[in-house]
Amino acid sequence: MPWRTGPAERAAGVRPDPYRVWLSEVMLQQTTVAAVRAYFHRFTQLWPTVADLAAAEDGAVMAEWAGLGYYARARNLLACARAVVRDHGGVFPASREGLLTLPGIGPYTAAAISAIAHDAPEVVLDGNVERVAARLFAVETPLPAAKPELYRLAGLLTPQRRPGDHAQAMMDLGATICTPRSPACGICPVTGFCAARRAGIAADLPRKTPKAAKPTRTGTVWVARRPDGALLVERRPERGLLGGMLGFPGDGWDGSAGAAPLDAGWRPAGEVRHTFTHFHLILQVLVAETAAAPRRGAYLAMPDLHPTDLPTLMRKAHDLALAALADASGGSI
Ligand code: ADE
Repeated sequence: MPWRTGPAERAAGVRPDPYRVWLSEVMLQQTTVAAVRAYFHRFTQLWPTVADLAAAEDGAVMAEWAGLGYYARARNLLACARAVVRDHGGVFPASREGLLTLPGIGPYTAAAISAIAHDAPEVVLDGNVERVAARLFAVETPLPAAKPELYRLAGLLTPQRRPGDHAQAMMDLGATICTPRSPACGICPVTGFCAARRAGIAADLPRKTPKAAKPTRTGTVWVARRPDGALLVERRPERGLLGGMLGFPGDGWDGSAGAAPLDAGWRPAGEVRHTFTHFHLILQVLVAETAAAPRRGAYLAMPDLHPTDLPTLMRKAHDLALAALADASGGSI
């Protein structure tokens, strides 16, 4: 993993760069290690230091974040980089407490940065480590109620020597061997200490209190294309769903009312589905080929509008709309 340091660097006393550890942790809260790799490379190439990121244009950072989801995190990312530069001389605080004062850094991330970058003996408890701890100690209390107990038990395992490596080893164990459904106990290095394994219940832990099902919301999104190929888009309000991101005018589903952005012969292109943290969304996509002036939003064409800069939901609507418009124009654009 590109944010880690190897044995040779460690032997030479080189610690991982807190900026890179922080960036990777924020990204990893969003998605898998495999998916983060490309984003991490891109961000660290564009902005090699926290000062570079702090000086970046908001729009450029949001565009690079597109696809990772949960855009409040990208805004917090920038707010945090700017706070580090403004309030801490461009150096991340080393302690968990200092890190906790920064925007977007919660107890998990503060402990992770402090342990990994500074080798502080912090208890780093993410979902993977919760599972490992629940199994090692055969904790049968369901999550989330078991969290304090798991934190205490994970703390018993946290060593004074190389706590950063320990934290990451626990995460790796959870990600690769002590996996949710069929743990590979046969090759697990700590199988001999595992109470759940001994009791034959490893795969059943951690138990979970069932979650309330996510509701499904529906709505409409309008994709208007001008004869010159420009598409009608609007920047979403800073607060709320997909805050600050570019998108097509929509209605209802995000809590806003809203009518079509212009009068045209709107045609259905189909529907797109997307799942947010708290709900599923089904959006009807309506398309029109029009030269009418919009009541909201603005027309934008390549290169100013890059479909890859759109959040995933809007990217799906874009792809569906363009396919429908291409069909209607006999395959030509
Ligand atoms: N998931 C979150 N942070 C991680 C890390 N540092 N190593 C492996 N997996 C992780």
